[in-house]
Amino acid sequence: MSENKRASFGGKLSVVLVAAGSAIGLGAIWRFPYIAGKHGGAAFLLVFLISVFAVGIPTMLAEFAVGRRTRKNAVGAFRSLSKRWSWLGYNGVLGALLISGYYYIIAGWSLEYMVASATNMLYSSPLSFTEQFNEFQGSWRPLFYAAMFILLTHIIIARGVEKGIEKASRIMMPALFIILIIMAVRVAFMPGAMEGYRFFLSPNFEEAFAPETIMMAIGQAFFSLSVGMGCMVTYASYFKKDNNLVQTSCNVALLTLLVSLLAGLVIFPAVFSAGLQPAEGPSLIFVTLPEIFKDIPFAALWSTVFFLLVTLASLTSTISFHEVLTAYLAEEFKISRRWAARLVSLASVLLSALTLSLVFDIDFLGIKMAGATLVDVFDYLSANIVMPVGALFTCVLASWVMDRSFVKDELSNRGVLKSRVIPVVVFMLRYVTPLLILYIFLRNLGIL
Ligand code: PHE
Repeated sequence: MSENKRASFGGKLSVVLVAAGSAIGLGAIWRFPYIAGKHGGAAFLLVFLISVFAVGIPTMLAEFAVGRRTRKNAVGAFRSLSKRWSWLGYNGVLGALLISGYYYIIAGWSLEYMVASATNMLYSSPLSFTEQFNEFQGSWRPLFYAAMFILLTHIIIARGVEKGIEKASRIMMPALFIILIIMAVRVAFMPGAMEGYRFFLSPNFEEAFAPETIMMAIGQAFFSLSVGMGCMVTYASYFKKDNNLVQTSCNVALLTLLVSLLAGLVIFPAVFSAGLQPAEGPSLIFVTLPEIFKDIPFAALWSTVFFLLVTLASLTSTISFHEVLTAYLAEEFKISRRWAARLVSLASVLLSALTLSLVFDIDFLGIKMAGATLVDVFDYLSANIVMPVGALFTCVLASWVMDRSFVKDELSNRGVLKSRVIPVVVFMLRYVTPLLILYIFLRNLGIL
């Protein structure tokens, strides 16, 4: 596609909202609380905060630089910087496929919960919320809702970059903040909430600096900020030349942190108040949040609105990894955007069906899981292998292989913007971020 024909996102606010739309989603609302619950709560939060600044933001900036400079899909972008580095683009495509293999399923859960709330089924059933969740898992409905979610994503993607992606993000993100704040206030009045705050806010340092916690926190930072798999490369290819990348990345990271923090402040007090376990796992929000709603007036209405917003937040994320694959197929194989989107959606349905039909036991590299599904496997592989590898080498490429001035030029809009932060980012990208990722990676493989 020629430079002037390529679509682009509108003003400053839109760029932030679109990138934040990709970042904020199940990562902050579903994954963060359950992973934090499994890895010590406050200890995890602390390392996660550090990871966002030391690893997440610099990587996002390297991706922004690559994407906006080349204005191509992930594979095309890395290839046009250096032929030998095009594998990094394929690493991104692989990441997008792995995420497509399970994200729609979880997003489908929130769609189901929205419907079950709206029809009041969730609150009128004689079964407990845990029983209801298990019953739902055993039915045909997860596949149906995953397919519906893929259809919704497809419709937005097919409408194109400006109309679809941008408009969707503008409306959904602010609404999500408001309802989370209302819920955080409500939950503070529940009995036993204090214990939840203690779990989430007062860290045990020994646990915090265990290599396993650090790896999970870095993985969460990548996943939640959508970095390390070409997504921000693809989105930045639609940014305008005068966009302030540093400001954009900081805003995106801060908004994501805020939503994660709010999610934790809603969920942990609720978990303790309901006498549940914070290490519940992937079902955490689906069994605890209904507990918050059930005793307040208009429970079904609140619950419907909440799951609607989770659905919408997920939708602005699914469109972003769908776009990685769609832009790749359309541009690299020179097919129409419409056909590319159809192929990607079809592949997503097939992958989701595969994921839902397989259950097995894992005992591998120190990971033991009975009754694991591909949800766990795809999640682990994407956040803890594909994204760290992608991030590590994107940083190395941008700051060591490319011209020394590459990152600086792009972040300063070729010298127009002057900021003291830019040299700091350049330094981080050269030394701190890649070494940190490498160190944690090797430690976890038992090599260091
Ligand atoms: N960041 C998204 C979320 O938190 C997930 C995502 C990962 C989206 C990678 C795109 C790319 O829900």
